[in-house]
Amino acid sequence: MEPVLVNPYNQQPLSEQGQKLVDSSGNEFLKIEGVYKIVNQPNYTDNFGFQWHKFQKTQLDETNNIDLTEDRFFKSTGWDKEDLSGRSMLEVGCGAGRFSEIVLNKTKASLYSLDYSSAVEVNYKNNGKSDRLKLFQASIYEMPFKDNSFDKVFCFGVLQHTPDFKKSVNALIDKAKPGGEIIVDFYPIKGWWTKVHAKYLLRPWTKKMSNEQLLQRIEKRADAMIAAYQWLYKLKLGFLTRFIPICDIKNTFPASLSKEELRNWVILDTFDMFSPEYDNPQKIATVVRWFKERGLHQVKGEFISYGGTLQTAVVRGIK
Ligand SMILES: C[S@@+](CC[C@H](N)C(=O)[O-])C[C@H]1O[C@@H](n2cnc3c(N)ncnc32)[C@H](O)[C@@H]1O
Repeated sequence: MEPVLVNPYNQQPLSEQGQKLVDSSGNEFLKIEGVYKIVNQPNYTDNFGFQWHKFQKTQLDETNNIDLTEDRFFKSTGWDKEDLSGRSMLEVGCGAGRFSEIVLNKTKASLYSLDYSSAVEVNYKNNGKSDRLKLFQASIYEMPFKDNSFDKVFCFGVLQHTPDFKKSVNALIDKAKPGGEIIVDFYPIKGWWTKVHAKYLLRPWTKKMSNEQLLQRIEKRADAMIAAYQWLYKLKLGFLTRFIPICDIKNTFPASLSKEELRNWVILDTFDMFSPEYDNPQKIATVVRWFKERGLHQVKGEFISYGGTLQTAVVRGIK
């Protein structure tokens, strides 16, 4: 059964009427360029809207002719491509749609995908040709779906950027059906040193800069920072790269990128690291505990390897 759409502010069912969703009280949500707008901007995710409009295709597997996102998706979820046929799937925090692309190209699931920022418009540009995709600009806290609606729920790279990590986890669990599966990945707290990092030292200033100003500064310094980063690794002083204001190239990027691609990925990920309003990493064990507190079964938290040498912190469970 398809998930029932509801107005998140009064829980009344929504019906599709032309280019809008309407509830029985007459409240309307417009569909603009393929996206149902459940929220208004501006909100705290405007940096992400800016980022994904600038870097629309940078990280897409298809564009780069790689299988990095595919590998991360299937290794993290453990899902079987065939088994997903006809399943209802919810993706929260889709950005430009690199995971949507995998779900739509590699499975026959029907995908409901949302993001709080205007990035979801970019997902429409990248993936809107599929009739198995429905897109919403909405917050994880105000999702336009009845509870207990989805067979599969995933949320990758998002939770640390929400104001209340635990509330966000609970919101995801609410939307899965009994027997449905929830999978999240996020920035982990590995120890006391996690926050001893240029990112956390500089963020109080960088997140207040305008998006344009921050991007310009990163673009101007990108080549020098890449050179310094690579030089430290050559000297076997890789541990010091945490004090360079640049993203983690070694542990998050595929080795196959050309020099130009590497520069673009660095600019995107460094902007992504310095611009968000919220950056709240979490311990895997804590997220596991929250899943268990909600009565989920088969809860497991672990680091998953993908793309050769890369790693991501994943927690999964069944409702
Ligand atoms: C780092 S990006 C990751 C995007 C995508 N999952 C990926 O891995 O490419 C984080 C995304 O989370 C979204 N986000 C942050 N807070 C959100 C919220 N409350 N509800 C829905 N999405 C949110 C941002 O707008 C942004 O697009």
